[in-house]
Amino acid sequence: MPPSGLRVGVAFGGRSVEHDVSIVTGLQALGVLEERHSPVPIYIARSGRWYTGETLRELSVYQQDSGDPDAEEIHFDLHNGRLLRAATGGSLLRSRRSPEPMELDVLVLATHGTQGEDGCLQGALELARLPYVGPAVGAAAAAMDKVTTKAILAQAGLPALDHLASRREQWERDRASVCASVRERFPFPLYVKPASLGSSVGVSRCCTDPELADALELGFELDRVCLVEPAVEDGSEVNCAVIGRPGAEPRASVCEQPVAAESFLSFHDKYMGGGKGEGMKGAQRLIPAPIGEQLTEQVQDLAARAFTAFGCAGVTRVDFLIDAQERVYVNELNTIPGSFSFYLWEPAGLPFVDLMDELIDLALADHREQLRTTTVFATNLLALRAAGSKAGEKA
Ligand SMILES: Nc1ncnc2c1ncn2[C@@H]1O[C@H](COP(=O)(O)OP(=O)(O)O)[C@@H](O)[C@H]1O
Ligand SMILES: [Mg+2]
Repeated sequence: MPPSGLRVGVAFGGRSVEHDVSIVTGLQALGVLEERHSPVPIYIARSGRWYTGETLRELSVYQQDSGDPDAEEIHFDLHNGRLLRAATGGSLLRSRRSPEPMELDVLVLATHGTQGEDGCLQGALELARLPYVGPAVGAAAAAMDKVTTKAILAQAGLPALDHLASRREQWERDRASVCASVRERFPFPLYVKPASLGSSVGVSRCCTDPELADALELGFELDRVCLVEPAVEDGSEVNCAVIGRPGAEPRASVCEQPVAAESFLSFHDKYMGGGKGEGMKGAQRLIPAPIGEQLTEQVQDLAARAFTAFGCAGVTRVDFLIDAQERVYVNELNTIPGSFSFYLWEPAGLPFVDLMDELIDLALADHREQLRTTTVFATNLLALRAAGSKAGEKA
């Protein structure tokens, strides 16, 4: 367990289609961290600007159309590895007093999707050497990209659906040939997905050639790479969360079976199911998933192996598709799952407040490990080059 009373920055929002969902996760995390620590909201607005302040704990702040909230702006001081609060509010340039450093022990990232879950934010924090909860850049980026995900799963011998990926340039050059290659490879029904989005945004099920063309058109508006894969019909979806960090034995949660209103889980099913915009907490689901002991164990084992194969850290939710013959396929990994999947840990005897402590503990341990890595490699290369060029000048 980490010491109590830590200053924990909770980052949420971000330039992502999952911005609003992230606000819900962020506010949940702030609420639960309050019990043992001093959480600090760090809101990344759609504009890309960062803000802090107590007003950010209120959901109403985000419901105004006026753009950025009325809160203190934060600036990233990369050189010194810290965040700075513009002391008088407003922008740093307008501020008369000098900016104050924000003393943070660790950051909890509640950012879903683009730039928050895909390694971008993690990269900025690495440059600043700030410890944060969740996987490092490589694992975050790999899990966010559905094509890279397929490659890593295949390499690790983990089951995934076959797929065909193509680029926007190919599509714009010759739409008919992209559709023809898909049709040669797979029968309908098919799924088209943008490679690096989430929350079902741009995901389409298609049963006819015009539907396929429309789905790809939409997919390529949203992403530069799309993939097509066969649909799993009359099957089910099962998710399992895993907690751990590289070099430690991962632990799998109980499994859930999300319940979709239609043939696949839409954004609405995932986040609006409870009708209160509660994030994944409000979605309809069965816990534990009613799939029997043997399938449950298989899913938990595959989830833990996928977590390890990607080098994940923190809590990752691994999503599966199970077909009518009970064949199990890993669908995707969500490295910052909605609500940190706390509802999958609670039935296993890990309350949300303890889950947060374990995540912080893992983050601090991983950060210490990272700092042990040598980044200095002394050579006489430059001296030799300088001597060489002097000799050259003389000759
Ligand atoms: N091959 C498939 N067969 C059946 N349903 C699928 C398939 N791929 C995706 N889905 C449905 O679409 C939803 C969204 O797809 P997913 O791959 O999870 O993308 P996202 O990253 O947007 O969550 C899934 O939750 C599932 O309901
Ligand atoms: Mg999904």
